[in-house]
Amino acid sequence: MGLPRVPVFWLLLLFAVVCSGILVALYSSAVESYPGPLTGARNITSSQAFFGPKASNSTTRKNLPCRHPLYLAIQRHPHFRDLFDLSIPVLLSGNLFTQELWDSLSRHKAPYGWQGLSGQAIASTLSLLNGSESTRLFAVSRELLPGCVRCAVVGNGGILNGSRQGQNIDAHDYVFRLNGAVIKGFEKDVGTKTSFYGFTVNTMKNSLISYSNLGFTSVPQGQDLRYIFIPSDIRDYMMLRSAILGVPVPEGPDKGDRPQTYFGPEASASKFKLLHPDFISYLTERFLKSKWINTKFRDLYMPSTGALMLLTALHTCDQRTPSDCH
Ligand SMILES: *[C@@H]1O[C@H](CO)[C@@H](O)[C@H](O)[C@H]1NC(C)=O
Ligand SMILES: *[C@@H]1O[C@H](CO)[C@@H](O)[C@H](O)[C@H]1NC(C)=O
Ligand SMILES: *[C@@H]1O[C@H](CO)[C@@H](O)[C@H](O)[C@H]1NC(C)=O
Ligand SMILES: *[C@@H]1O[C@H](CO)[C@@H](O)[C@H](O)[C@H]1NC(C)=O
Repeated sequence: MGLPRVPVFWLLLLFAVVCSGILVALYSSAVESYPGPLTGARNITSSQAFFGPKASNSTTRKNLPCRHPLYLAIQRHPHFRDLFDLSIPVLLSGNLFTQELWDSLSRHKAPYGWQGLSGQAIASTLSLLNGSESTRLFAVSRELLPGCVRCAVVGNGGILNGSRQGQNIDAHDYVFRLNGAVIKGFEKDVGTKTSFYGFTVNTMKNSLISYSNLGFTSVPQGQDLRYIFIPSDIRDYMMLRSAILGVPVPEGPDKGDRPQTYFGPEASASKFKLLHPDFISYLTERFLKSKWINTKFRDLYMPSTGALMLLTALHTCDQRTPSDCH
């Protein structure tokens, strides 16, 4: 991660995991030139064919069990069946920290592992993620949620400007946002609800600089909001640890930063999630293969925050046990 990763490109996606299938509305995949947040084309490419028919709306949905959960759709699909591994842990928590994990992750550089990173810093961070809430994304156990878990992932590519999708986005059970998620002034288009905010310390700080002119002057905060750290560097482990402890970052490029400035006054382990490096490897290998992977630039390549959040949602929303679904 030697290069500054300005969060300038990526897929702008809004998708819904719903009872009668998944609606994936792929708004844009503008990777080339970047017109700035909330600008650019408005056309919507709706790839409903991705998983199935459009679902009923949320009013009808809540009264029904989840009859067509995502994992079943995946299982039945000849291509996605082999692509998805829904058993892989999405989050890294303290209870997964073993000598074996250490040995295995020490062979890969961040974000895929810990090679060259301080073992002590990592161990002390993970020891704080030792509660059961650190092992799962959602606070509420799945079984307690009626219907299917519907998620929207909102990117910042610009195509939502003028879309009037705000209400639709907010109607989802969980809304994922990331990096320079400008909301103020664009509520009608992007909604206001944020359940998860995903970032690396680098992309978060870059966003605060790059998009301050658009009003992105603080990271979304709120009582029910959870932060998803992408461990792209030792910085991310250090910031995460300091955030949970409610202390300034003790060393490194963020030395002296007060995590409350970014995440608000409420500091507790349950507020912060950490993507598992193995999950990032798996996603990269299976879904986000880049031509850079087999070159000497391999270490500079990292999947975009948006792609990681979308795939995180696809691996967590609407995974249910079969008994819930019939
Ligand atoms: C959003 O769209 C409006 C109307 O086309 C335009 O004037 C405005 O500059 C756009 N905002 C951003 C942030 O791109
Ligand atoms: C969106 O794209 C479709 C297919 O390319 C086209 O028929 C339609 O006119 C476009 N809509 C807008 C608003 O540009
Ligand atoms: C959702 O479904 C209910 C019941 O079928 C219907 O009355 C309502 O108009 C629908 N809402 C939308 C936004 O489609
Ligand atoms: C987690 O670790 C902290 C600090 O070491 C300890 O106080 C707490 O009891 C632990 N919690 C669990 C659930 O093990």
